[in-house]
Amino acid sequence: MADGRGGSHGAAPNDLDAFWMPFTANRQFKAAPRMFVAAEGMHYTTQDGRQVLDGTAGLWCCNAGHGQPRIIEAIREQAGILDYAPAFQMGHPKAFELASALRDMAPEPFEHVFFTNSGSESVETALKIAMAYHKTRGEGGRTRLIGRERGYHGVNFGGISVGGIVTNRKAFGTLLAGVDHLPHTHIPQNAFTRGQPEHGAHLADELERIVALHGAETIAAVIVEPMAGSTGVLLPPKGYLKRLREITARHGIILIFDEVITGFGRLGASFAAERFDVMPDLITCAKGLTNGVIPMGAVLATSEIHDAFMQGPEHLIELFHGYTYSGNPIAAAAGLATLRTYREDGLFERADGLAGYWEEALHSLAGLPHVIDVRNMGLIGAIELEPIEGAPTKRAFQAFLDAYDKGILIRTTGDIIALSPPLIIEKAHIDELIGTLGEVLSALD
Ligand SMILES: Cc1ncc(COP(=O)(O)O)c(C=O)c1O
Repeated sequence: MADGRGGSHGAAPNDLDAFWMPFTANRQFKAAPRMFVAAEGMHYTTQDGRQVLDGTAGLWCCNAGHGQPRIIEAIREQAGILDYAPAFQMGHPKAFELASALRDMAPEPFEHVFFTNSGSESVETALKIAMAYHKTRGEGGRTRLIGRERGYHGVNFGGISVGGIVTNRKAFGTLLAGVDHLPHTHIPQNAFTRGQPEHGAHLADELERIVALHGAETIAAVIVEPMAGSTGVLLPPKGYLKRLREITARHGIILIFDEVITGFGRLGASFAAERFDVMPDLITCAKGLTNGVIPMGAVLATSEIHDAFMQGPEHLIELFHGYTYSGNPIAAAAGLATLRTYREDGLFERADGLAGYWEEALHSLAGLPHVIDVRNMGLIGAIELEPIEGAPTKRAFQAFLDAYDKGILIRTTGDIIALSPPLIIEKAHIDELIGTLGEVLSALD
């Protein structure tokens, strides 16, 4: 039903001008808008009534698929009981319940949960916790942060400082001081690897060089995505994360895994820390925490980190950090219903069980024109295309547009196509997704 202002379900907006869209080619989009008006299960419905198969779980977040009834009901119910409670010096039951449920789902050392509203805020929170942790222990000189080239840690100043995506950094001045970067692990010898690549564990040793350069006593934390998602699904070489863990532990440096994408079943386990059997000190998450339905993020901390703050007079605030919406009741209700859905429907095990079929399907694209790499793990995959000379990103973006026209949603970053479907995907959907993508790639210039 139209409301005269173009805002209702199914109605065409009559004015696209006001909304300055994030990470979007605004003028291109507004000249030929791509609008979703509804979603259920594995599919979106477009404004012109077409079904589009979701190959990206929205934006890596709708792991339980769309329109999940348990989540919808939980939100509806909570909105009628308690809409909002102050987040500072007051509490409400759902936030505590969700923290406990998250602790129970996470690997063992993660006993404590700090709530945020997004992946970016989780990253800022984790970086601040790491610095403040050292300060509480009398090591206030540890302020340096180490990220990695091609890392994505959201868009706030801490995140883009430790992040390694040039386009996300270069317009924003000097960023945070005292940041260094590890080299990325995306090396040509590993092309067409299935699962974790063989080559590149030695790249973790670069951390020793950085430690020698600055002195361990100046370094607070190293932050990496255990599998880099946003720059095109860069898997950790075998042994790499373990080595990072050994080096950080040896030098008293906090290791943060940014699991905003890898959390909640994407790699066939609750978190990548569990999947790779490497335990950091802090884990950031968001996206799949509420199935993308309501903004929410979290930082998981070990007791060692948390307990270091629980000192001094009890009436004093231990960490001067938090958000108005940290642990928001409706988001917490959505989170609880989401975690329950993952558990009751066995979605992480399901992702693990489908990983072999997914891998075979993806690698069937290997011989197609312009394809220079295919890689995968769990229910994630990437197809890297050779860029058009002088026009990087154009070929993959064309694939994205063609795919949308043919009824599948894919995601591109640079000239890499990334796929990360909801974990409820069926084999027939995989066939459709990869089959259609094959047609798109075959027809590309
Ligand atoms: C690893 C990682 N960290 C942080 C973020 C930022 O999350 P948000 O967009 O919710 O701020 C993302 C988003 O894709 C991400 O992939």
